[in-house]
Amino acid sequence: MVVRIENVKKVFGPILALNGISLEVERGKIFGLLGPNGAGKTTTIKILTTLVRPDSGRVEINGLEVAREAVRVRGTIGYVPQELTVDTYLTAREHLAYFADLYHLAPAIREARIQELLALMNLERDADRRVKYFSGGMKKKLDLACGLIHRPPLILLDEPSLGLDVRVRRDVWDHILRLKEQGATVFVCTNYMDEAERLCDDVAIIDHGKIAARGSPGALKGELKRDIISVEIGGPNGHFSEEALAALQGALDGLGGVKATMRNGKQLKVYVESNEMALPRILQSASALAVPIYKITYSRPGLDEVFLHYTGHAFAAESESGV
Ligand SMILES: Nc1ncnc2c1ncn2[C@@H]1O[C@H](COP(=O)(O)OP(=O)(O)OP(=O)(O)O)[C@@H](O)[C@H]1O
Ligand SMILES: [Mg+2]
Repeated sequence: MVVRIENVKKVFGPILALNGISLEVERGKIFGLLGPNGAGKTTTIKILTTLVRPDSGRVEINGLEVAREAVRVRGTIGYVPQELTVDTYLTAREHLAYFADLYHLAPAIREARIQELLALMNLERDADRRVKYFSGGMKKKLDLACGLIHRPPLILLDEPSLGLDVRVRRDVWDHILRLKEQGATVFVCTNYMDEAERLCDDVAIIDHGKIAARGSPGALKGELKRDIISVEIGGPNGHFSEEALAALQGALDGLGGVKATMRNGKQLKVYVESNEMALPRILQSASALAVPIYKITYSRPGLDEVFLHYTGHAFAAESESGV
């Protein structure tokens, strides 16, 4: 294990930021810590980077106890914080040179490494412009490059794609995948469930300073053992009948493999054990009742459903309200 966190607690005055969390991160994996605003993600990453001391519990990176071997730990990690750190008056190249010096990079490899990162982040043409004139996305990419210049075996990224447009976000994630291919371990905090789902090998869901669930996205979703089918009824002329929908709901409630049904306007959400099994039965029931189906869609649960299942509340609503 590259990272081992055991029963870590942290309070800030009256705020219980971490309420006894335990986590493990395997070498060569992309690990995602997911949770809404204020859940404790940044606090966790700051403890790993030695910037915040836990009140209790044990934290190890590569077998080194973080609290006792802070200097050695710092030499093996790369950290890109949530807020932008790049300075406005330096150029991109000067920033990278500055970070190269901070990490004591040998003069022989310094220039090549700077060039490589400028190319990787697609910043070559802007290398000698002051960062003052950069867009938010360019600044974020430079920030990432600065954290990677010493080729750290463990990379800690706090919300790496916050504020980036879809294209740049994809570039950043492609780059993170390449780092993994090169053998790095990546620990990433994120608010974006869809991203974590696509790119993380393992995730932990954190909520109010506690780990609510851990596992691979696939396994976590699989544990829910339910797929979702949405049925919209209505004839070709848009005719919709309350009675028909109620009759269909009644029929589906008694069907084998159907776990629950829920009305949502003209739509009926059907939670089923498996889409493959339930779809033909739903169509049969509708046909037997002569209820016209306007639209039918089916999906597997996402990590947002996993979050809802383990925490008892929706992810999106919490993050939107900033709780
Ligand atoms: N230095 C600090 N002093 C006081 N309270 C703090 C401090 N750092 C964090 N907190 C509190 O601890 C809790 C967890 O904060 P943290 O920054 O870890 O959340 P987060 O999951 O990173 O949220 P976000 O998604 O908004 O970045 C919050 O209630 C926050 O107000
Ligand atoms: Mg944070």
